[in-house]
Amino acid sequence: MSSGTVVVTGIGQLVSCAGHDGTLPAADRSVAAPERLGVRHDAALVVEDGRVAWVGDRAAAPAADRLVDLGGRAVVPGFVDSHSHLVFAGDRSAEFSARMAGTPYDGGGIGVTVAATRSATDEDLRLLLAARVAEARALGTTTLEVKSGYGLTVDDEARALRIASEVTPETTFLGAHVVPPDARDDRAAYLDLVTGPMLAACARHARWVDVFCEPNSPHAFTEDEARRVLEAGRDAGLELRVHGNQLGPGPGVRLAVELGAASVDHCTYLSDDDVAALAGAAGTTVATLLPGVEFSTRSPYPDARRLLGAGVDLALASDCNPGTCFTSSMPLVVALAVREMRMTPAEALLAATVGGARALRRDDVGHLGVGARADLTVLEAPSHEHLAYRPGMPIARALDL
Ligand code: NIG
Ligand code: FE
Repeated sequence: MSSGTVVVTGIGQLVSCAGHDGTLPAADRSVAAPERLGVRHDAALVVEDGRVAWVGDRAAAPAADRLVDLGGRAVVPGFVDSHSHLVFAGDRSAEFSARMAGTPYDGGGIGVTVAATRSATDEDLRLLLAARVAEARALGTTTLEVKSGYGLTVDDEARALRIASEVTPETTFLGAHVVPPDARDDRAAYLDLVTGPMLAACARHARWVDVFCEPNSPHAFTEDEARRVLEAGRDAGLELRVHGNQLGPGPGVRLAVELGAASVDHCTYLSDDDVAALAGAAGTTVATLLPGVEFSTRSPYPDARRLLGAGVDLALASDCNPGTCFTSSMPLVVALAVREMRMTPAEALLAATVGGARALRRDDVGHLGVGARADLTVLEAPSHEHLAYRPGMPIARALDL
């Protein structure tokens, strides 16, 4: 970004996701409330030092050092993709084909990616990650969380996080992704490693700790194991997120709420008690839905309407990874949320922006209120509804200023 002020004008529809007055009420719990959209027509926005400095009618825009005219296109906040696994090598397209022919997903394929990732050089991983970040940005994503989880040794996990931290501050230690194939004979020893030397080597490169809490997979972690990982991470200064209730009912949601995690992700199989717990945790724990996973694993979608009806804070994220969802396309995620989970286009956009920001406990991204980071995503369209209305079309891109 160059210095000085820039006026971005000719915005046919500006969706600030910051309410009508362009300010984001800190204590506002209703991430998905439509009035949060803050739609303006024929608008302009001034950027100063990388931040939104002014938002208003085009005709009232102040002068600036530079002018960018968007010719009537719509602008939305850059997507906040709060869940991805982008540091990996290798290919699992054969596993995808087998799944489409009926083989269910159980997390066992993660071992294939672990082997390929361990054999890659730092430079290989750096290049693969850079290409994936560029793909996401080209489709409108401006904030990305990136997890480790395909190294599963002290050195390989620390390396993944070191490389991830070169592209984002939102790095997540996922040494407890699965028990790796070479450690299967002694789960207890692997847990000791993850909560001991591996955590010690990784904590300085990570903001978050995560665990695949899934009793329905023999490869993932039980409630007690997950609790141990999360508490150790918290003691090391990391904040908490959880993979929970992905493959069947389970303890992940309950545990995430109990420990005050910022987000519990997947939430595909929920009991009434889980939904009530999430509703009670609004403002603290976000339920992050990842419909690209259900699409790519041919699984039932989470019940977004049930969660919205209960007042749960929702986010939408990609979960881009080589096993369950090899796409970082947030426009696709929004389209799936609308078509398959019956979210309105407004609810889906809010969940993919302010919802993701809340899942990362950030208030400087996910909206375009005054003071926010100037992360603008331009749509080759007159309105935000086109994100779901034109599935598969490359209409969203992050604006380089
Ligand atoms: O979020 N479920 C655990 N982790 C990923 C999948 C990882 C993989 O299969 O490589 C997920 O779906
Ligand atoms: Fe994931």
